[in-house]
Amino acid sequence: MDKQVFVMDHPLIQHKLTYLRDKNTGSKEFRALVSEIATLVCYEATRDLPLEETEIETPLVKAKTKVIAGRKLALVPILRAGLGMVDGVLTLVPAAKVGHIGLYRDHETLQPVEYYSKLPSDLPQRDVLVLDPMLATGGSAIDAISIIKRSQPKSIKFLCIIAAPEGVRALTQAHPDVQVYCAAVDDRLNENGYILPGLGDAGDRIFGTL
Ligand code: PRP
Ligand code: URA
Repeated sequence: MDKQVFVMDHPLIQHKLTYLRDKNTGSKEFRALVSEIATLVCYEATRDLPLEETEIETPLVKAKTKVIAGRKLALVPILRAGLGMVDGVLTLVPAAKVGHIGLYRDHETLQPVEYYSKLPSDLPQRDVLVLDPMLATGGSAIDAISIIKRSQPKSIKFLCIIAAPEGVRALTQAHPDVQVYCAAVDDRLNENGYILPGLGDAGDRIFGTL
């Protein structure tokens, strides 16, 4: 298949990422930055959307132009932190349906625990973008994608903001058919499964529950 992991090194993203990582950035600004980066990551992740020709009239002449070819998308944020990416992605694809998967990492075992799942019923007709700002051990993303695959969507892409090399390896091995888009691949995980340098706990920083 094509390249499976896309790291977005665009200067605008790298600039915003610096403020996102900064521990002095408060929740209001943090939420805005997550949303803006999600828009930019989505821009790249939708690069291969197929186009079809249409004809319109400009104020001057008739012209053959292009529109997106009826491709249907579904967004699936992983609760909680994935919610922070939804609005930014909907800015670009406002007609997408939104499902939700609730997972949290058990702090002792680092294993994901599922507590909620509600997906659009027409997933077999849709391409899915799974949203979660953090890919750490990869356990949450791997489980969420396995749950989504049971509904047999046309395709799945995983969009995150910061990934650990360990998570990228685990996810690409578990789901070789899923392309991964992120703004950065950091150094490593610490002994508690946090990404270094990272940004801390994304859910807590988005929702102010530190
Ligand atoms: C965070 C993050 C991912 C997960 C990544 O969620 O948003 O879902 O950890 O870690 P992993 O790759 O090791 O599975 P968390 O479990 O803290 O839940 P929350 O979003 O409800 O805070
Ligand atoms: N989840 C987070 O929110 N941050 C990390 O660094 C790892 C998992």
